[in-house]
Amino acid sequence: GESNRLAIRGQVLQFTADPFQLGTENACRFWSDGVVVVEDGVIRSVGQASDLLADVGPDVEVHDYAGRLIMAGFVDTHVHYPQMEVIASYGAQLIEWLNDYTFPAEGRFRDRDYAAKVAGLFLQESLRNGITTSAVYCTVHPESVDAFFEAAAPYGLRVIAGKVMMDRNAPDFLTDTAQSAYDDSKILIERWHGKGRALYGLTPRFAPTSTDAQLEAAGTLWQETPGVYMQTHVSENRQELAWVAELFPDCSDYLGVYEKYGLLGPRCVLGHGIYLSEREKAVIAETGSAVAHCPTSNLFIGSGLFDLAASQQRADPLRVGLATDIGGGTSLSIFATLRAAYEIAQLQSFSLHPIQAFYLATLGGAKSLYLDDKIGNLAPGYEADMVVIDLKSTPMITQRMEHAKDLTEALFIQMILADDRAIEATYSAGRRIYARDAGQN
Ligand code: GUN
Ligand code: ZN
Repeated sequence: GESNRLAIRGQVLQFTADPFQLGTENACRFWSDGVVVVEDGVIRSVGQASDLLADVGPDVEVHDYAGRLIMAGFVDTHVHYPQMEVIASYGAQLIEWLNDYTFPAEGRFRDRDYAAKVAGLFLQESLRNGITTSAVYCTVHPESVDAFFEAAAPYGLRVIAGKVMMDRNAPDFLTDTAQSAYDDSKILIERWHGKGRALYGLTPRFAPTSTDAQLEAAGTLWQETPGVYMQTHVSENRQELAWVAELFPDCSDYLGVYEKYGLLGPRCVLGHGIYLSEREKAVIAETGSAVAHCPTSNLFIGSGLFDLAASQQRADPLRVGLATDIGGGTSLSIFATLRAAYEIAQLQSFSLHPIQAFYLATLGGAKSLYLDDKIGNLAPGYEADMVVIDLKSTPMITQRMEHAKDLTEALFIQMILADDRAIEATYSAGRRIYARDAGQN
């Protein structure tokens, strides 16, 4: 039967190439009256509505979004769900910000009910912003990981998450040991990795909060668990760089610490990477590791400016994804995140093109996670994670859109001016799990 088919109709955007490498002109296809046909959660076809709707027959259910823009769900490649409550914390740079705001907040996630409440709120807010995949840091408490995956399960989302590992330079109430981090992570991998679309990410917080023994244990466990992710922070702040040099005198640079313990490779996602040297960038490219660009966080905590253009214009371009980095970051809106990325690039005399921007927020992010055959695009065989964008969500945007001459300009207006009010609907595997006008919040 055809009863499990669904057609989502509207303006449809599909990527066909990497706009950083092959130019913005030929990187996408656009149908002003397009349709995405979904069957059993997977995209069956994408194209002109009149053609495809005739093919699928009259009894197919159609969700009609005429005039709105449908694209792949957004991918947030680095975010801390327990830091919802420290967003907008005043007056500190990284190390002080961690000690004064973040660590005390993370301490509360020992309480599983509290963790469940915040995880639910985080997921609702992510969906309200069109984010369908996130790479998530939980806290040191295994309960915080169970709470997150349990909250995500009913939505059927393709999420990555893991238990933070920290066995030094953090408060006692937030530390584990090399052995307990290994053991607890292993149990959580068995429990959650590959359950539905969920994936596990080993999460040593960053070099300063792990001993050599813990980093070694993480490397061992990663080798033992194919397909598992590995996420951490690197080279975000100058004070942090000096501290890492002190703590690991035998390593020539920050990345060298992770390199030493076998923590680089495909499915390794490194947050920030602002001050990476040429050697470090070459190693990231060579190993197939990825960098998560966190523009609102980098501005808000005052860390510095990641050079996105340089990362893409090299002979061996880096895999780079976009990230909100809540609560260092200031918004779960991908529009706000892209606006910050644009503004940072402007300061570096690079004008991030809207096609590049939305590629970064979807297929580019998916590629950084080695998921670009499954998510991040609207094409046959892809998991049907989608966002529907209302291109006229506020009076300011509506008047500006009157003068938009093409898709590129419409996209740019959205990334500079839009917010969560522009997200009309969010779909996970073909199921509408958020609808703006259904009174959900
Ligand atoms: N470095 C280590 N931990 C963190 C964190 O929670 N947020 C940010 N922005 N940087 C970090
Ligand atoms: Zn972070």
